[in-house]
Amino acid sequence: MIHKQPVYANYAATTPALTEAVCKELRAYLMETHFNMGRNFEGLESGAIALRARRAVAGLFGVSACLRVIFTSGATAALNMAIHGLVRPGVHVLATSIEHNAVARPLEALRKAGVIDLGWLPCAPDGSLEPETVRKAIRKNTGLLVMTHASNVLGTILPATDCFKIAREYGVFTILDMAQTGGSLPYTIDDCCDIAVFAGHKGLGGLAGTGGFVLGERAVAEMRPWMAGGTGSASHSLDMPDFLPDKFEPGTQNTFGILSLAASIEEIIREGCETIREHERALTARFLAGLRGIKKAKPYGPLDAERSVAVVPVVICGHDAGDVARRLFEKHGIITRSGLHCSPLAHKTAGTFPEGAVRFSFGRGSTEAEIDTILEALDML
Ligand SMILES: Cc1ncc(COP(=O)(O)O)c(C=O)c1O
Repeated sequence: MIHKQPVYANYAATTPALTEAVCKELRAYLMETHFNMGRNFEGLESGAIALRARRAVAGLFGVSACLRVIFTSGATAALNMAIHGLVRPGVHVLATSIEHNAVARPLEALRKAGVIDLGWLPCAPDGSLEPETVRKAIRKNTGLLVMTHASNVLGTILPATDCFKIAREYGVFTILDMAQTGGSLPYTIDDCCDIAVFAGHKGLGGLAGTGGFVLGERAVAEMRPWMAGGTGSASHSLDMPDFLPDKFEPGTQNTFGILSLAASIEEIIREGCETIREHERALTARFLAGLRGIKKAKPYGPLDAERSVAVVPVVICGHDAGDVARRLFEKHGIITRSGLHCSPLAHKTAGTFPEGAVRFSFGRGSTEAEIDTILEALDML
């Protein structure tokens, strides 16, 4: 049965549609700029678009030097570059027990190759982490702490600032995975965060295939390029240029995607990240309150909209998660995501492994009416 109005509740995976203003800019770029560009002007135009986007990202995260904003094909590429660029053989790396596979897999591969020692910081079943856990886990050779800002499974917001302050006391480098928080949770990147990674196609409202990272002062000196190639600069040398952003941006950039990011982030800044956060917080609170009245629905995570982003995993007792997601879609047009959500670690932490859960996630475009539709549908299961 096809529904008139699908209800999209999968914002943690991706934003379903670009806003009208962003689409308008992209259309204009394709029709007026892209096809009229001569070879020689291509570089100029894409450089100007990238600079605009760098300024937007820097503005959103309160960073003064916009050349420290590096664009990649997404948070996964950015995390791989950041991890490989900062680890040195023999180093001990810490990460939390709720990381996405975009962090867990590169770290695990490095561990298996004998390059690093790896320690998982134990989060509580609701995903929360006590900052002092970091201090207890730090060893003499600990060199890097990687952590998610908010869990893509449980929604839990981690105390990044407090954890990073402790890491800084021991000279440990830090990487923050902001895939789930960029654009929806106000955050200023401070001195304790060495690299902050963002995904372009989620809360930041850009096209798929966009993302990147912001380098802190220490990381500028410490991080090595993990990918190498042409940059259109210092071409006489077989080494990557030593200046930003070229040092970390080899190859042809995704100018169209980067333009979508620039336009969307400028819009988010105008709207106010606080306003978006409040909208999503209120919807999450409404959803959690409604779930309390549905006996067979068991939500996981902090169950507190103040302590989480707009992500709530739910297990319907006695029902398979995939089956529930399929029925919600087929009968009610509700789009969710079921299974392990690329984070077996988070599901193990919560106690929902290997069955998984149905994840409901909301965003800027979600409405109270949609939350109520989802609650009614769950009640009818
Ligand atoms: C916490 C987290 N980190 C990393 C990623 C990977 O992001 P991307 O799709 O931009 O590679 C995701 C995507 O779901 C995520 O939720």
